[in-house]
Amino acid sequence: MPIAKIAPSLLSGDFGILAAECKRMVSHGADWLHMDVMDGHFVPNITIGAPVITCLSKHLNAFLDCHMMVSHPEKWVDDFAKAGASLYCFHIEATNDASALIDKIHAAGMKAGVAVKPKTPVSAVMDLGDKMDMCLIMTVEPGFGGQRFMAECMPKVKELRAKYPNLDIEVDGGIAPENIDAAAKAGANVIVAGTSIFKADDITGTIESFRQSVNTEQERIAQELKQ
Ligand code: DX5
Ligand code: ZN
Repeated sequence: MPIAKIAPSLLSGDFGILAAECKRMVSHGADWLHMDVMDGHFVPNITIGAPVITCLSKHLNAFLDCHMMVSHPEKWVDDFAKAGASLYCFHIEATNDASALIDKIHAAGMKAGVAVKPKTPVSAVMDLGDKMDMCLIMTVEPGFGGQRFMAECMPKVKELRAKYPNLDIEVDGGIAPENIDAAAKAGANVIVAGTSIFKADDITGTIESFRQSVNTEQERIAQELKQ
């Protein structure tokens, strides 16, 4: 049964003190750190690249979940592996050969994730379930933090979970205390949250409540899928 992994998105942190922000999230109980990489081409925003990950990973011993919102994702695999990325999650919309790209990521020593934008059907990644380490179902249009959670993406999570009971399924965008249960019920176990974690009065409590929702629902889903 997949367990909850809570991954604060550093996009909501203070980039001027990024390493300190990462350590602060780990101290509040974060399992993974979600790093949003944007190239100004695949999405209309620019953030960070491999040089920043290289500097950061010298200061940290954390799982770096790199969300590659970039065109030509095959170009940056080796740089990110060298930089210390743990998981390289590319967008299915940005490549013609997802299977070969997963092989390249694995050969470079990282876990491979495949992300799906809200308007892309889940059928685009359904056949990769035994090969990818994680599937990211976006719950906002990628590019910016602080957007509204799109509940209409939950059937994609449900369909993927029914076919792949052990796959890490991540949701990203607008996740907050008021919609965590919808994501958890659909079967997501890796929870990205920027605004709702960084703005919380009680960050540790928020992370813990996300974890509880996921683990409770995963137990229920595991029973249901057994029947
Ligand atoms: C959006 C990014 C998200 C974003 C999430 O393109 O992929 O990771 O930072 O932030 P919130 O939780 O504020 O929507
Ligand atoms: Zn992201």
